[in-house]
This record gives sequence, C-alpha cells and structure tokens, in this order.
Amino acid sequence: MTGGRRKVALVGAGGRMGQEIAEILHSDPVLSLGAAIESEESRLIGLPVTSAPDLVYDADLARGAMHCDVGIDFSSPEGLRRSVEGFVAAKKPLVIGTTGLTQEDRDFVREMGSHIPILWSPNMSLGVNLLAILAGQAARALGEFDAEILEIHHRHKKDAPSGTALFLGEAVASARNGALSQSGVFVRHGLTGEREPGSIGVMALRGGDVPGDHTVFFLGSGERLELTHRAESREVFARGAVRAAAFLLGRPTGFYTMADVLLSGEAEDR
Ligand SMILES: NC(=O)c1ccc[n+]([C@@H]2O[C@H](COP(=O)([O-])OP(=O)(O)OC[C@H]3O[C@@H](n4cnc5c(N)ncnc54)[C@H](OP(=O)(O)O)[C@@H]3O)[C@@H](O)[C@H]2O)c1
Repeated sequence: MTGGRRKVALVGAGGRMGQEIAEILHSDPVLSLGAAIESEESRLIGLPVTSAPDLVYDADLARGAMHCDVGIDFSSPEGLRRSVEGFVAAKKPLVIGTTGLTQEDRDFVREMGSHIPILWSPNMSLGVNLLAILAGQAARALGEFDAEILEIHHRHKKDAPSGTALFLGEAVASARNGALSQSGVFVRHGLTGEREPGSIGVMALRGGDVPGDHTVFFLGSGERLELTHRAESREVFARGAVRAAAFLLGRPTGFYTMADVLLSGEAEDR
C-alpha cells in the first residue's frame, strides 16, 4: 500500500520509536516510508526494514531527504544538527521528536524554521500537550502552591529529566512569569536546606519498560493537586509524529509545535 502516498524519510528508523513509526506508516492513508535512515555505525545498514521489506536501512541522509517529501527524526541529540542541515539542503519539511537537546540546539532548530517548515515537540501525544495547558492554568490559579514535577521512563532512556518534564516545567514557570532555567531544581541530595520559594523541582525515575509517566504536583498547606499523564505505549507518540508530518506538507516555512497541529483541527485519529 504505497501508491499515491507521500514519502517519509525516517531518521533513527531502527530505534524503538523509529520501528513504531515505520509500523504506522505501513497502513497510513497519506504517508508511506520512503527511506529508513540509521547512523553509519549501525549494524542495521543494508538489512531490510521489517514493516517495509522492499526498503533497507541506509546511512545516506542527503539522498533520503532528497528522495522523500517530509522527514521525521527520532534519533539522538548528537546527530540532530546534521539531520536538520540535510533536510534544509533538500528543502523538505521536518518533524523532530528527539529530546535531550541543549538550549543552543533548540535555538538552532527554531532558526531553521526560516528555511523549511520544521516542528519540534518533546512529546507528540494529545494528552501531554493538554496537560501542559492545564498545568499552566493551575500554576496561575494556585500561585501559593509549590510546583514539582516527577517523571518515570524505561531503563534504556538516555537523557534526564525527560524533554516532556522540562516542557511541563517551562509551562509552569512561564505561567508564573519566570523561566525554568532560573527556577528549576534538578537534584536534591544531602543537606539541601528548606525549599526555595518559587522553585520548581523536576525529578526523574528510571526502570522497567515504562513508555512515559509525568505528574505535575501543586502542593499547598493541607491539600495537593496532582495532574498525571501516563502513556500506555509508544504508539501514541508515533501516531502524533505521523500526524505532524502530514500537517507540515504544504505549510509555509516556520517553526511549529504540536499545539499548532492540535489547534489546526487535523488532530483526529489517523
Ligand atoms: N517526542 C516524543 O513524543 C518522543 C517520544 C519518545 C521518545 N522520544 C525521543 O526520541 C528519541 C529516540 O528515542 P528511542 O527510544 O527510539 O531511542 P533509540 O531506541 O535509542 O533509537 C534511536 C535510534 O536512532 C539511531 N541514531 C542515533 N544517532 C543517529 C544519527 N546520527 N543518524 C541516524 N540514526 C541515528 C540509533 O542508532 P544506534 O542505536 O546505532 O545509535 C537508534 O536506532 C529520544 O531522544 C527520545 O527521548 C521522543
């Protein structure tokens, strides 16, 4: 089932998320897998893609970007700039789900929105993006409450805290007219002293095969509010990424987020 469908160059195609996205593209009505890109060192290079056996894993990102209509990157922060430059050179839109980016990386991605349509979101799920909105509202309404964020992910996750926890922390901080870079507390160990008023704790647990749990706590005197999102599987992120790629086709250059996809009314299940 590929006839007439637009082609996706998938960077990090052999990873946990890459395989999930390839599986969804197999039966998507709009998009199909056109190139499965992996790093040069990958043992997968030259092997067939399970969900698209006519394709093999390839390290030639420039060729994949040129040959396809849109890119999706779920790889690693180390290779991200090279990936973005490849899609900019090919003048093709790009969806990025990779997390663990530095502030410089994020600024770079945003700037590349002046060349191509580009969307970065640390979490492609509908629920988490709504959670960020609700957390911002709660942060404003419960100004005296202490805000803390806890996330849990599988044992293989390479960055901490998760990009989503940082995204939620930024939503809380900006609702209180601040920045997480100023108010965030990422480690507590030893004689920490009393909690700094206005600080936002962001803490990470790791273990098992948890796809991603996030709770934003608002802790007051005698009461607490907990807003929790639990991803039951990676499929929810993969579906969001495919939806975002379809959204970018034909859009003007610019930097987009998942909120743009959700607000466009194109957020219905594919
Ligand atoms: N936005 C979201 O909704 C969302 C949801 C889940 C995960 N994520 C993020 O997505 C990223 C991938 O997660 P994952 O769990 O799928 O990780 P993973 O299983 O480690 O997969 C990453 C894949 O990318 C490959 N890769 C690394 N550098 C590359 C490069 N320069 N060019 C091409 N391929 C490269 C890796 O190959 P090797 O193994 O050979 O290095 C691996 O196959 C992480 O940053 C994660 O936090 C985002």
